[in-house]
Amino acid sequence: MKDFLKKIKRAAVSAIARMRTAREAKRAFAYDRRQFMRYAGALHLDREAAALAEITMGYHVLEKGLTMPRRRLGFGKGAVRHLVNLVESFEARFGRRAQSDHAARVLCAYRKLHADSPDPMPRLDAFLAARPYLEPADEPHVKREDFFADKDAPFARFSASRHVCRHFAGPVPRELVEQAAAIAASAPSACNRQHARVYAIDDPVLRDRLFAVQKGTRGFGADADKVLVVTSDLSCVRWGWERHDCYTNGGMFAMALCYALHHLGAAHCILHWSVPPQADREAHRLLDIPESEAIVLLVACGAAPEEFDIAASPRLPVADILKWRGGQTAH
Ligand SMILES: Cc1cc2nc3c(=O)[nH]c(=O)nc-3n(C[C@H](O)[C@H](O)[C@H](O)COP(=O)(O)O)c2cc1C
Repeated sequence: MKDFLKKIKRAAVSAIARMRTAREAKRAFAYDRRQFMRYAGALHLDREAAALAEITMGYHVLEKGLTMPRRRLGFGKGAVRHLVNLVESFEARFGRRAQSDHAARVLCAYRKLHADSPDPMPRLDAFLAARPYLEPADEPHVKREDFFADKDAPFARFSASRHVCRHFAGPVPRELVEQAAAIAASAPSACNRQHARVYAIDDPVLRDRLFAVQKGTRGFGADADKVLVVTSDLSCVRWGWERHDCYTNGGMFAMALCYALHHLGAAHCILHWSVPPQADREAHRLLDIPESEAIVLLVACGAAPEEFDIAASPRLPVADILKWRGGQTAH
């Protein structure tokens, strides 16, 4: 009888805890949804920060085009028109910023590459003529040994040397991926619950089927030797307020994995997993990933060619990133 009562009590306590978590999760997701609807850039492109992000995405598309393997002249005409419009409309509303200047410099590099093109580009030419002070952006062309020269350097130099590379020229051994996963396992996680898992795809048919679902690797995905799918186990989540934990913990793990690949001399390219539910389900089925794991992102990897181009991808100044609060230096 005593045991029976104990069992009932335990069941009641855990039912109450489950109800509390479900309530928390409902409130948390409603809060997130409200914040998203109020502030997500995609819904508020009239705002300066959102417009700047759109410009950054616009120049990133062209930087990728400029540095892609098997680049064909005349690529990205629509992207050029779009970016010209974005920068003009932004500057008319808010003035110049580092990002809008970089976008114009990328457009300048695009025009320089097409200097001998028989296709007239009057709109782009007029845009550039109005900004004669800007030099073309420099999309670095690097030799493999220089790209990895700082792979053992002190951290500030090492981390500055890591970049994604969309050029792959052969396999990386499975042992290297195993080593990279072992290094990444040192990533911190909330209460050391270690949410992250990695599915290593080592089969071109599976890779292509996954990329067909992801839809973001045109022009270079088929060269990748392996794809690492970083997931996060929802079983590790302990209460409702932890609704972001799969992505914070999985994201930290993914960063460590990218550093590890760079340190071990493998080229890597992070690939987003911002896909609709149908695609997410399809990938789970395709790769036999349990539904209880959230896919965080993919990392394509392979051996780097002897030389290749990388996108400049300039970073914001620290003053735009680091905001002090409190103390004497608060701004
Ligand atoms: C979450 C995330 C998703 C990304 N998705 C893609 C992608 O789908 N395709 C791609 O070519 N690069 C992708 N990238 C790579 C970024 O474009 C790249 O990291 C960024 O431009 C900075 O350049 P760097 O890593 O070379 O310094 C992604 C990066 C992150 C962090």
